[in-house]
Amino acid sequence: MDMLVKLYELKRDPALDSRMASQGVVIRRVLAPELPALTAWIEPRFGAGWAAEATVATMRQPTTCFIAIKDEQLIGFACHEATAKGFFGPTGVDQSARGQGVGHALLLETLLDMYAQGYPYGVIGGAGPMEFYRRSVGAVPIEGSVPGIYRGMLPLAHPSEVSD
Ligand SMILES: CC(C)(COP(=O)(O)OP(=O)(O)OC[C@H]1O[C@@H](n2cnc3c(N)ncnc32)[C@H](O)[C@@H]1OP(=O)(O)O)[C@@H](O)C(=O)NCCC(=O)NCCS
Repeated sequence: MDMLVKLYELKRDPALDSRMASQGVVIRRVLAPELPALTAWIEPRFGAGWAAEATVATMRQPTTCFIAIKDEQLIGFACHEATAKGFFGPTGVDQSARGQGVGHALLLETLLDMYAQGYPYGVIGGAGPMEFYRRSVGAVPIEGSVPGIYRGMLPLAHPSEVSD
């Protein structure tokens, strides 16, 4: 289901910023030359579809994909303006780094960027963990939004189908 967020009510969260700093996590906008490293990280963890969406977000100027880095390693990402205008997603955090606020910090940074780009509301496209979005930024479900814009989407090619 898609979810809606009031971007105009969001504020920076200094406690979350301090939490990231104390863990040595840097959240920042991805740079275009980082695109190959980004998609090489996303695809084995989250699949080719999310790598394609992150590619769209990284080919914008300014890029609309944010990354989390710890010890010079990518540990998470979050995008907007990928599948549709005003849409947040995809996002993902490495399994080993979950439950430490990184997903929340990426989400907030990305939604604040959407607001700065002029959107009053943001849509979480095809929200999986709805409780994560509700708790982190007060997102509410959009009734009747399944399958939404994903209606009739082609199945993703399985790697074995494209390797011959
Ligand atoms: C969803 C995801 C990005 C969350 O990242 P994370 O770094 O573990 O999340 P955080 O630690 O910042 O969690 C923030 C809050 O949401 C809660 N939360 C996180 N994941 C949750 C989940 N799957 N279900 C319910 N609550 C969740 C946390 O408990 C935390 O709550 P708190 O602030 O009350 O303690 C991560 O679990 C992930 O990569 N999942 C797989 C990919 C995915 O589903 N992406 C979303 C597609 S729409």
